[in-house]
Amino acid sequence: MLLEIKDLRIEFYDHDVPERVVHDVSFSLAEGEILGIVGESGSGKSMTAMAVAGLLKRHDVEKKGAIFFEGTELLHASRAQLRKVQGNDISIIFQEPMTSLNPVKRIGWQVEESLKIHRPDMSREERRSRAIAALSDVELPNPEQVYKKYPHELSGGMRQRVMIASAMICEPKLLIADEPTTALDVTIQLQIVKLLQRLNKEKKMAVLFISHDLSLVKRLCDRIIVMHNGDIVEQGSAQEIFENPKECYTKELIDAIPRLEKLV
Ligand SMILES: Nc1ncnc2c1ncn2[C@@H]1O[C@H](COP(=O)(O)OP(=O)(O)OP(=O)(O)O)[C@@H](O)[C@H]1O
Ligand SMILES: [Mg+2]
Repeated sequence: MLLEIKDLRIEFYDHDVPERVVHDVSFSLAEGEILGIVGESGSGKSMTAMAVAGLLKRHDVEKKGAIFFEGTELLHASRAQLRKVQGNDISIIFQEPMTSLNPVKRIGWQVEESLKIHRPDMSREERRSRAIAALSDVELPNPEQVYKKYPHELSGGMRQRVMIASAMICEPKLLIADEPTTALDVTIQLQIVKLLQRLNKEKKMAVLFISHDLSLVKRLCDRIIVMHNGDIVEQGSAQEIFENPKECYTKELIDAIPRLEKLV
């Protein structure tokens, strides 16, 4: 198994009473698999993703359980151990690329950032050619031009492609995509999903895809986890979940979002 999460529990301590936002969640993800996490706002999807990406390093967060990535425990790993994995074996992209991109740095600089950390011996020229190849891999036209641009010169969909290129530059085994298309309009959402699908196949990269949008999840994912109030209420193959949902909550989610169906 590439990723195994065992009894993950996340609690916040910013008030006197701890608020438990993820309750003993367990699931796993095989190499090259695409796993979807769905559930309404506040169900604990992002907190689970942040834990896997090693981004819950705050003093007011209590974490229990274990996260094994290729057998190595990450939930209680040191910052130094996490830094070796982040952006290298595991990458994450978020909803709004503008907040993840640095507005005053050129795209090329940002796409190369992980290479500078994880491949320090790589020459400048090699970094540049890798970055341009990555921009071309995410189907950006004129990658040499994009390399020299600033984030504000690109559209939202192009910026999300840049984020995917940055996330993939070190050829991660796992890409976590937390609502990567929510800020984009519907046709661009579909393009990004198709891109992730292609990259998953070509690079054999596993994807943890988080979304409210079940029609996107249905197109993309092999397996689906349904979260509600910090719990997994149902999990199964995409086919099982869509054709024979067991829980009322899952049925309600399926009924709620027919959006993309008409387009495809
Ligand atoms: N700093 C914090 N202190 C206390 N509770 C928090 C904090 N950050 C998040 N939470 C709570 O954790 C719960 C889970 O949040 P999370 O961001 O994982 O939800 P989500 O499923 O990703 O929702 P969305 O679909 O809106 O992105 C929510 O109830 C939220 O209020
Ligand atoms: Mg979220």
